[in-house]
This record gives sequence, structure tokens and C-alpha cells, in this order.
Amino acid sequence: MRIRNEDIDLLLSKLHIEDIVGEFVELKKTGANYKGLCPNPEHNDTNPSFIVNPNKNICHCFVCGFGGNPISFYSKYKKITFSEAAVELAQKYNISVKTIDSNFKQDAKYDRYYNIMEDAYEFYKNNIFENHSQPALEYLSKREMNPKIIRENGIGYAPTTGWGILNDYLLSMGYTKEELLELGLIRENDKGSYDFFRGRIIFPIYSTAGKVIAFGGRTIEIGENIPKYINSQDTPIFKKGKNLYGIERGNIIKKKKYAILMEGYMDVLSATIYGFDVAVAPLGTALTEEQAKLLKNYTSNVLISFDSDPPGQMATEKAGFILKNLGFIVRVIKFEGAKDPDEFLKLYGREAFLDVVRNSLEIYDFLYEYYAKDYDLSDHISKQNFVKKFKEFFKNVEDRLEKSLYIDKLSKSLGIDKNVLIEELVVSNAKDIKPFANEYKSEITNFNENKIVTKLEKETIVEILRDVNNYKYFKLKEIKGTLSKKIFYYLEDCNFNEPIKVCMDLKNLGDMSEEEEKILDEIICLSIDTVNNEKERTTKLADIFRAWVIEEIENYKKNITNLTDKVKIGRLEIEIIECNDFANMLNIYKKYEEIVFFHIS
Ligand code: CTP
Ligand code: MN
Repeated sequence: MRIRNEDIDLLLSKLHIEDIVGEFVELKKTGANYKGLCPNPEHNDTNPSFIVNPNKNICHCFVCGFGGNPISFYSKYKKITFSEAAVELAQKYNISVKTIDSNFKQDAKYDRYYNIMEDAYEFYKNNIFENHSQPALEYLSKREMNPKIIRENGIGYAPTTGWGILNDYLLSMGYTKEELLELGLIRENDKGSYDFFRGRIIFPIYSTAGKVIAFGGRTIEIGENIPKYINSQDTPIFKKGKNLYGIERGNIIKKKKYAILMEGYMDVLSATIYGFDVAVAPLGTALTEEQAKLLKNYTSNVLISFDSDPPGQMATEKAGFILKNLGFIVRVIKFEGAKDPDEFLKLYGREAFLDVVRNSLEIYDFLYEYYAKDYDLSDHISKQNFVKKFKEFFKNVEDRLEKSLYIDKLSKSLGIDKNVLIEELVVSNAKDIKPFANEYKSEITNFNENKIVTKLEKETIVEILRDVNNYKYFKLKEIKGTLSKKIFYYLEDCNFNEPIKVCMDLKNLGDMSEEEEKILDEIICLSIDTVNNEKERTTKLADIFRAWVIEEIENYKKNITNLTDKVKIGRLEIEIIECNDFANMLNIYKKYEEIVFFHIS
């Protein structure tokens, strides 16, 4: 028996390190942590150097390194494998987690869901060529869909000859009412179960792997109170905001290196029929970030071809922001004389659509035209407001080079100085400073003289104790806390060859208040957290360094008066805020130091 990897985290979240260790070691509470004699038989500890940290759910001996999380500690202590320790602890503490065996049941359940959808799909498909489905075929024929196209695209029909034809059919296949309800194929009222789709053309919706996971249904009756389309509800195998209609052709999109984003089922189908087999559509919602991320797995080039009416234009703007934010190259198709691509293709054909593709506008140019309609650019005030309209767009452009190219363009067409545009659209418009920086900032602004250590200092010291080589990045920073000052003073001329010795030395610094000692213990304990991986570490280091630099820049900014320097510093601020890579951050910081140097000299 083995516990699934996915469930190890769940198990860990329910195991308390102080309970597990407490069984073998006598623990004494010190602040947020516990302390005791190291249980490593090879250590022979006499002076309590084993720390248990309930917050991080880990333990560690800062002399011999023994410890870990509840499972790894238990496995080391009992000299059994990690896997065995996990199972033993789950049983011992009566925590129910799935083991590999019962996992098969879960897979089988999902296999059945897919089978049900496949059978429902076959049922709808077969129905469209029945006698009673004549109205549906006539409707489709009016929309230029002949039997061949219908068959090729898996289009089906949900008949109205009864209330629960699909229901009866699927129950007879051995599926249960609960399953059909879960998949949204049937509904229930006080009279019993009835089919969710009735009297509707059925469009199958596929997963990326090409399995049927949901349906869209278009009514063929014209009626005030009948919704034109209904879609499957969210189910265990389908989440509307995370799927795209047409995404099963992802590999074609990958090969052709672009996708066309359309609004509706009929648009995508017509595009396919007219040889544009890279069209996808959000499922009756505005494009979501998750849908865009899904598309990003296949391509970074998107042509938006929404309806030509005002709501379509507005949707284009919104989708454009979402796509730009994820680094897509976005173009927009514009046409006249048809309400949507479906109608356009049917009226004017493939060649005409190729023409509008060729004439498509880069998203910036589309927005320029779109916004310009509402403003008189010869008027001063109106021109200012027009510029402000671009704020949202610039917020969503991730790439710095791209941003500056857009600024160039806007500056040329409006005759406004580039620096002014940068100040307006880039500097004062940057995304909010990442939360951690804000978090540190409030504490720094409200600093009081007797503070032992600030949050930022604490995390910095943790990183230094974790790897003393990190000290060089922070040695010139302005340290304020009483404990931090003592630690930095010690670090200034200590020998970095033995990290464990550093911890021991710090503990023997003397001249510390009880409160300071308690916090030092806590910091040492944090520094030996074994859970995080290398990538998390460098991101953390970048976060901490960023917070220091932002503070520094804020202070420096108070002394600059001219616009050019302001803009220069503003640009650096943005680079710093957006940078997630520590090495890169150090380079940006060098640039900052150069600016400061020239300013002073
Ligand atoms: N839609 C929906 N529910 C509605 C209306 C629309 O889920 N009540 C979704 C459908 O996915 C539809 C898309 O929004 O394909 C576009 O809607 P709309 O433009 O109104 O439909 P058309 O494309 O004009 O559809 P048709 O050509 O079938 O009239
Ligand atoms: Mn439409």
C-alpha cells in the first residue's frame, strides 16, 4: 500500500510536528517554537539544540542537521522508508487518505463519465437523420449545412418526441440517474427526470484530448422566452471558463502557429468548413484568463474575429487585454457588411476572408482607431483624455521593448513628447507594487526606535543564515532593528566557512535581551527550513532584495527634481517591480547605482 504523491501534502497538513517529535523528545516551549535534546543517536546532544517549528511544521538540529517534516523526521528516526512512514503515520493518527488501490475506483468513475458523454453524443448524432428531425435538418440546410458537413462535424439533434428520451436510453445502458444528473444531461423536478436538451441542434464540445465533455444546444424554434443557446453546466469533467470550443484541434493550431478567436459555435464551424481550421471560441462567456492560458499551450499568435457590432468591439478590447497580459501577439480582423464571421464567410467566401485577415490590425492600431472615434484630437483636453484611454492597455503589455515601441508610435501620431507619455502611461501606471513590498513598506514607515527586527530584516537574516554567501548583497543596506544591528555587526567580520558555527556564534553573542534571544531562535529555525526548493529560494531572495531597493529608491526620489531623472528612475522602478530573476535584479540595481552616482557627481 502506498499513498499517492498528491495526497502527501494533505497528510502533512494534518500531522503536527510537535506531536510526532513530542513522542520521542521532551520538548520545552520557547516563543513560537519548541526546543529539546536532539534525538539523533549519533549526536549525543547535551545542550538542547533541536528546534521544532509548528508554523513551518518542521524540526531541525542546528548542530548535526537531523530533522525534517513530520514524515521525513519519522522515517529517519524509525529508520524506515518515507513511504512506509507516511502509511504508518496515517494509520497511527487515523487520517484518511486515499491509497493507490482506491485510486483505481476514482479513475473508473471518470472513465464512466466519458463513456456516458460518448454514448449521449452517439445518440444525438443518430437522431438528426430520423424522420422526426426533419425541422432540424431544414434549419441546418438554411444555414448551409449539408448532411456531409453535419456528419463531419458531429452535429446532432435532441428530439422533442418525449421528455426523457436520452434519459431512458442511457438508463437502459446501465448508467445511473445520479451520473446523468452530475453530467447535466438530465434535470429533475417534482414530476421526475427530463432531458436537459430538447428540440435543439447539438454541438459537441471536446477536451484537448478530443473526448466529448459537454454540449451546446441551439434552439430551432423562434420564441421570445426561449434562450437561443444553452450549454452544459459545469461538471466533474467540464469547466466552462476553462475550455474553448474547437481546442481539440490544438495540434493544428500548433502546426499553423496561430489561432483565430471567434464568438460562437456557428462562427467556428463555418470557419472550419471554409478551410480555417484554427478557430476557437469561448463558451458563451467573455474570454477568461484561463481560456487564454489554455490557448497559450498551442500558440502565441491570435487573430481576434468577433462580431462587428459594438458589443463585439468591446469584447475585442477586453480579450485583447487578457491576451496581451499573457504575452500574445494579437491582431484584430475587421470587416463590414456582415454581423459575424459566420455570415461573412457565407456571403463573401474564403478569399474575401483571407483579404480581411491580410488587412487585420495590430491590437494597438485597432485600439487607436476604436478610441479615436470618441475624441476630437485637435482639442487639447480631448487629446489628454484620449491618451489616458491607453492606460489599461499599457498595464497589460508585459514586454518592455514592446511597450517602448508603442510609446514611440503614440508619440509620433499625437506629437507628444515620449518622456511625457512614459510618465503618464508607464511610470505612474505600473501595476501595484507587489504585495510583499507593500507589506514591508508599512512597517518601515512606522518604524519605532526599540524595534528588535523588522519583517524585512528578519527575512534577510534568514536568507543569510541559509546561505552566508548572500550576505554580500545586503551588507550595505541600512539596518535598523536592535537585534539586526547586532547580527550584521557580527557578520561584518565573521568567517563564512562554517554556517553552523555562525548560528552557534550568534547564540553566544551575549548581551541580548530575552526577547532578542527568542527571536534569534526563531530566525535560526526558519533558516533551516528544508522544504523549499532552489527556485523558490531565488524567487524569495529576489523578493527580499526588491523590497530593499524599492525603499532605497523611494528615499532617493525625494531628492530629484528634473523630469529626465524622474523618468529614468521610474523606468528602473518598473524593471525592478517586474523582475523575478535575482541575477537580473542585481544588474538593474547596478544601473540604479550608476544614476545615483552621476547625480551626485
Ligand atoms: N451564447 C450562449 N447563450 C446565448 C447566446 C449566445 O451561450 N443565449 C454563446 C454561444 O456560444 C454562441 C455565442 O455565444 O455561439 C455567440 O452568440 P450570438 O452571437 O448571439 O449567436 P450567433 O453566433 O449569432 O448564433 P447563431 O448564428 O446561431 O444565431
Ligand atoms: Mn454571432
